[in-house]
Amino acid sequence: MAIDVRGLRKRYGDLEAVRGVTFSVRRGEVFGLLGPNGAGKTTTVEILEGYRERSDGEVTVLGHDPAARDRVYKETPRPDGTLLREYQFFALDREIEIAPGIFYPAWTYNGQVPGPTIRATEGDRIRVRFVNMGSHPHTIHFHGWHPPEMDGSLPDQQVMPGQSFVYEFDADPAGLHLYHCHAVPLKRHIHKGLYGVFIVDRRDDPPGERDELVMVMNAFDTNFDNENEVYAVNTVANAYMVDPIRVAVGRPVRIYLVNITEFDLINSFHLHGMFFEANRTGMMRSPEVADTIMLCQGERAILDTTFRYRGDYMFHAHQSEFAELGWMGLFRAEEPRRDT
Ligand code: CU
Ligand code: CU
Repeated sequence: MAIDVRGLRKRYGDLEAVRGVTFSVRRGEVFGLLGPNGAGKTTTVEILEGYRERSDGEVTVLGHDPAARDRVYKETPRPDGTLLREYQFFALDREIEIAPGIFYPAWTYNGQVPGPTIRATEGDRIRVRFVNMGSHPHTIHFHGWHPPEMDGSLPDQQVMPGQSFVYEFDADPAGLHLYHCHAVPLKRHIHKGLYGVFIVDRRDDPPGERDELVMVMNAFDTNFDNENEVYAVNTVANAYMVDPIRVAVGRPVRIYLVNITEFDLINSFHLHGMFFEANRTGMMRSPEVADTIMLCQGERAILDTTFRYRGDYMFHAHQSEFAELGWMGLFRAEEPRRDT
């Protein structure tokens, strides 16, 4: 059996999009899902592909559970105490929703924009198996120390559709980095959505008692005029205005901020009512203290702060035009939970 689905359910809040679907598909069989818009066809297919988590039921595709994490990530201890971290990456053309009802024909890593965050401790070994399942040549170009043959930038390093390549290097240096496609034309390949965050933790400073989040400042040219019409952090315009990011008063918050915006020279992050320590590339010895930080494309900064008062705090690009086109959000600071 190629595909086996039993009692599959998917809920989005109160809405049940898929209600207990059961079917199986034999190898070589042509199988179709028919139904009106909203019947749950796309959700079902995306669960089979591993891009969406199911709420209930059992799914196997070619003998594997598409939701199993070891399909895309595996870690193996090494004798010196570091880890080998192995990732499965694939490039895929896919429509993504960047604002309610606005779909963008993206090129993605693993079906998502930004791509999966790669996180390691300094000295770990990173191995990324990259398969290009898209319609154009692509690469993964990492920032950080690595030998030139792992750079994914030169013409003969392009991975053609249907081809694959294994990127392997040590996680070095500790800090906040990124990766993106480096095939030509570069601005089109980056802009289409092929980018993600690469965090290397210091061995003496593991993630601890703080809340952490990744914010990738990105934007989309929806009418292909080489200018952006929609701006966001993490792809969906105004998402955090509708659903504020919950934080606790008095508990440290760390933001891994990366700018990958194409077509505009700079982007920025401004937080209302407070200040943060900004540590550029995560490698500066003495952080600057600011309430606004400006980044070129490819620049990044680790922002550390703690909320003093309860309430809603706006954050947005301090380019007002970007903010009005979707790059705006809210933190909601609440009293810390008392779990005793
Ligand atoms: Cu590309
Ligand atoms: Cu770059």
